[in-house]
Amino acid sequence: MQVRKANSGEIPRNLLALADPSEKSVNDYIERGICFLLEEGSKIKGVMVLLPTRPHTIEIVNIAVEEQYQDKGLGKYMLNEAFKIAKLEGYTIIEIGTGNSSLQQLFLYQKCGFRITGIDKDFFIKHYDSPIFENGIQCCDMIRLSKDL
Ligand code: COA
Repeated sequence: MQVRKANSGEIPRNLLALADPSEKSVNDYIERGICFLLEEGSKIKGVMVLLPTRPHTIEIVNIAVEEQYQDKGLGKYMLNEAFKIAKLEGYTIIEIGTGNSSLQQLFLYQKCGFRITGIDKDFFIKHYDSPIFENGIQCCDMIRLSKDL
């Protein structure tokens, strides 16, 4: 299993859409960020996009694992690879954001050492065309998390 930079032309948009239903926001950050693929043999099983945001700070703006390979530790593996890549590039803080309704993601990110630093209230109401529901609740706010590297 390896994580490598995606070449232009092999960006798995279907996978990115699993994590982010807004095509507009995906288009925006794949232009500015660096897309990485999780590959096993010739099979692409996951994707993540890292975007430098502020001095010393990089954000995981998208992370997704192909549905049939979820819950097998691949998300955790990619997060740990992101920490290594970011550290090697000299970043000292890594950030991620997720919805208030994304309970599995909130568990996973905290298990990987992220701490909640803030709430972007009504983010998903303001920036997404259609309402999003998960786990029986509406996704309204973005929970911001950060980890020191
Ligand atoms: N209570 C406690 N922990 C829970 C839990 C619960 N109810 N539900 C899930 N978890 C934990 C698991 O225990 C596991 O941690 P562990 O290994 O310590 O047990 C972790 O969540 C799941 O880890 P992993 O198997 O590595 O996740 P994954 O490979 O499925 O990848 C995503 C995680 C989110 C990337 C993947 O599910 C995905 O692509 N989802 C759709 C896209 C998405 O939502 N992306 C993120 C947008 S913010």
